[in-house]
Amino acid sequence: MSTTNLAAFLSRAPVDPRLSAIVGVVAEACVAINGHVRRGATGQAMGALGSQNVQGEVQQKLDVLSNDIMLEICAQAPGLCAMASEEMETIHPVRMVEPEGGYLLLFDPLDGSSNIAVNVSIGTIFSILPTPEDAAGRAVTEADFLQPGRRQLAAGYVVYGPQTQMVLTLGAGVSAFTLDPENGDWVQTSATMTIPAETREFAINTANTRHWAAPVSRYVDECLAGVEGPRGKDFNMRWVASMVADVHRVMSRGGVFMYPWDKREPNRAGKLRLMYEANPMAFLVEQAGGASFDGQGDTLDAPVIALHQRASVMLGSSAEIARLRAYHAPDGLTT
Ligand code: AHG
Ligand code: MN
Ligand code: MN
Repeated sequence: MSTTNLAAFLSRAPVDPRLSAIVGVVAEACVAINGHVRRGATGQAMGALGSQNVQGEVQQKLDVLSNDIMLEICAQAPGLCAMASEEMETIHPVRMVEPEGGYLLLFDPLDGSSNIAVNVSIGTIFSILPTPEDAAGRAVTEADFLQPGRRQLAAGYVVYGPQTQMVLTLGAGVSAFTLDPENGDWVQTSATMTIPAETREFAINTANTRHWAAPVSRYVDECLAGVEGPRGKDFNMRWVASMVADVHRVMSRGGVFMYPWDKREPNRAGKLRLMYEANPMAFLVEQAGGASFDGQGDTLDAPVIALHQRASVMLGSSAEIARLRAYHAPDGLTT
């Protein structure tokens, strides 16, 4: 097999070179983040900071360091007009929008914070949107970011696991790249990531079982009933508690990942964030032949009203998501 790398892939991609260049700088920033992750306690990036982010979550040093790296390195891409992140209350403007338009970058700089201290896979998630048409010639506002996921032009994640890998879509399939630690090159290791329609594996935090909505309980109960139950087959369960790692498993061999709405905080759509967690993952999953559902419709069609909006997330193998969709229909529990 002839090998290619991310730079060659991006130079051949049939998209605006300014868009490819933004993916290129994200990859560069992730190499820098990877360096800190790999150094662990032998470096300066481990431990808690004592501060909280806009969502009221305790920040780790690596959350803030990764955010700073993304801001600094990604600002170099000439087409990038503004950035938004899990770790920042509002947007970070970079430059005025050119007459031909520009791009907006959203990210979760370090996903899976609770796994940093225990040396379990963590990641970075990113999403690229166009600037709205009426933004030409002016500075970007926060309202310009509030676009449905269906408008994403590119999305991806980097998983810092036993290997460092980037999984990327530019809207025409999904490719994976593995970072060669010898020379820092992102070698293309898959050109067609595809999620099988059927699966025997699901991922959900079962500590929240008593809080779930009835359709989610039914789905999981039926999986747990195994070969004697209505599904007629045994299921396996996995929960890494880093969305990047759990979704990477689904992207690699199929499965269902769920972090659905639950009764703990009924007025909150879910735990995960729509714009820089659910939407980029939904875009990748759809591009790989899977599906993503938020309890009402496709994640990518969910109306966006706030930068840090939460989402109910169910994604993965298409036949399983179709089943979850049916269970959520008004008459779904009786069918
Ligand atoms: P983050 O570290 O960016 O805040 O995200 C953590 C998220 C996600 O990665 C994971 O799926 C989920 O939190 C795990 O939540 P539980 O601890 O409730 O299982
Ligand atoms: Mn996250
Ligand atoms: Mn995070």
